[in-house]
Amino acid sequence: MAITSTHYTKTAVVLHWLIGAGIIFMLALGWYMCDLPKEAAKTAVFDLFDLGLYHLQLAEAVSPRTFYFNLHKSIGVTVLALIALRILWRITHQPPAMIQTYKPWEKKLANATHHTLYLLMIAMPLSGLIMAAYSKYGVKWFGIKLIAGLDDNAKREIFVEIHEFLALVFAVVIVLHVLGALKHKLIDKDDTLKRMSLLK
Ligand code: HEM
Repeated sequence: MAITSTHYTKTAVVLHWLIGAGIIFMLALGWYMCDLPKEAAKTAVFDLFDLGLYHLQLAEAVSPRTFYFNLHKSIGVTVLALIALRILWRITHQPPAMIQTYKPWEKKLANATHHTLYLLMIAMPLSGLIMAAYSKYGVKWFGIKLIAGLDDNAKREIFVEIHEFLALVFAVVIVLHVLGALKHKLIDKDDTLKRMSLLK
C-alpha cells in the first residue's frame, strides 16, 4: 500500500501526548513513592506531592506510601489501556513515511528507538501489573478491585527487579527520543515535530 499522508491522524497525536505525559508522570511517581518511609502516620487528607496546590480528601485514613502506591497502580492501568488503544491504532493504520531528508543512520536510529519504545510501553505496565498481582495487596483501579493479591513474595521480587530495570531503560530511551525530536526542530528545522502536532 502506498503511504500518501504526511501527518499522523488526530487520534494518534492525542494518544501520543497523553501516553507520553502519563509515562513521564509514572516514572517520577514511581521513584517518588519508593522513597517514602514504610512507617508513617495515616491521614485522610493528602496535599498532593506536598506542593500546597491540591488537597485530596479520602474516605479512610491511609499511609502516604499506600496512597501513592494505589495512585501509581490506578494511573498505570489507565496508561496501559491508552497504550492498548495506541497499538490498535498502529495495527489498523499506516503511519506517515519518514521525511525524505533523513540520513540513513537517522532512519535506522529513529526506527530502533520507536520499536524499543513500543516494547517498553508493553513490558513496563505489564511487569508492574504482574508484580502487584503477586503482592498481598493486588490491584485496585481508583478503589475498584481488579486483581486479588496472590501473596507470593518470591515471584513478586522477580518482577520488582524487572520493573526497576525497565524504568531506567525507559528513562534513557525517552531522553534519546526527546533529543532526536529537538534536533529535528532546532538544528535540521524540518517538519518532524509538526507531524505529531494538532496545530498544522
Ligand atoms: C507506564 C507504566 C509504568 C511506569 C513508567 C512505572 C514506573 C515505575 C517506577 C519508576 C517505579 C520505581 C522503581 C524503582 O524503585 O526504581 C515503579 C514502582 C512500582 N510500580 Fe510502576 N510503572 C508503571 C506501571 C505500573 C503498573 C501498571 C503497576 C501495577 C498495577 C505498577 C506497580 C508498581 C509498584 C507496586 C511499584 C513499587 C515496587 C516496589 O515494591 O518497590 N506500575 N514503577
